[in-house]
Amino acid sequence: MDLTGRNFLTLKDFTSKEIIGLLDLADDLKKKKKKGIPVDIHRGKNIALIFEKTSTRTRCAFEVAAHDLGISTTYLAEGSQIGKKESIADTARVLGRMFDGIEYRGYQQSLIEKLAKYSGVVVWNGLTNEYHPTQMLADMMTIRERFGKLKGRKLVYFGDARYNIGNSLCIACSKLGLNLTLCAPSKYLPEKKLIDECLKWCDDSEGSITLEEDVSKAAKDADILYTDVWVSMGEPDEVWTERIKDLKPYQINKEVMAKAKPDAIFMHDLPSFHDLNTKIGKEIGEKFGLEAMEVTDDVFESKQSAVFDEAENRMHTIKAVIAATLGNNF
Ligand code: CP
Ligand code: NVA
Repeated sequence: MDLTGRNFLTLKDFTSKEIIGLLDLADDLKKKKKKGIPVDIHRGKNIALIFEKTSTRTRCAFEVAAHDLGISTTYLAEGSQIGKKESIADTARVLGRMFDGIEYRGYQQSLIEKLAKYSGVVVWNGLTNEYHPTQMLADMMTIRERFGKLKGRKLVYFGDARYNIGNSLCIACSKLGLNLTLCAPSKYLPEKKLIDECLKWCDDSEGSITLEEDVSKAAKDADILYTDVWVSMGEPDEVWTERIKDLKPYQINKEVMAKAKPDAIFMHDLPSFHDLNTKIGKEIGEKFGLEAMEVTDDVFESKQSAVFDEAENRMHTIKAVIAATLGNNF
């Protein structure tokens, strides 16, 4: 597998073989990290990390992964000129003269496409409104670790399925042969165009995409139950009332977990409103009389929960993406 110079903007651009290649590389890098074997194969390189939205996992994963590979990082968020005094196209041309690669977390996918077009260096998607491809690699790595294989696993996604996580799961599952069920009200489903595109990949991978509004039917015999926040970064506060009303029936709780297979796992990209002990969680919880949102605390804290493996695997998979796209010298 040679991914040298390839942008990582969405998994749509990668074959199933290439995605599996990245997962294999991530497994290898994880083993090396645990054994303390150095992998600083990109010594002397520099990358920029642009965050127009907040982050814990993605930023830390990029910084630690880059450091392990021998790469220096520059973090750009509040205080840079991007999007305020300077356009994406101009920013891209400046950064392209200084850096070997650029990570971008922001709003529309069209912005990261422009960054890639004008910078002339490798660009990695650290989350846009539409896609979160590095999250998918970590999720698939975690599923493979837990079940040994991806093909044929039944993954059920509950909640807002028309944003970055729902869209990206459609792509990842259909490329890698998982059976994805989207359990959401119809107005929270991905665009038909995306589903149609994914169904074509299912023909090759033997995966499937099923739409099921009934929570019990959807959860039946599932291997993986997955959810995400009901309101995503960048969405206005005004949508909370409607979201809670629409998505409360799709909460993952013990009753829902009980419908799945006995060895089923719970997954969430994080951060999660499972106990509402945070600043925003408290405000929303008190306002709407909730104790939890998309997942209950007992499920989040249960043995079935794989959320911190997912979080750790963000780093190993992001390291694989950086290593491979900057030129994999293993
Ligand atoms: N899952 C994820 O992207 O987490 P952060 O928002 O903390 O980066
Ligand atoms: N859908 C969430 C994902 C966070 C990692 C958001 O965009 O805020």
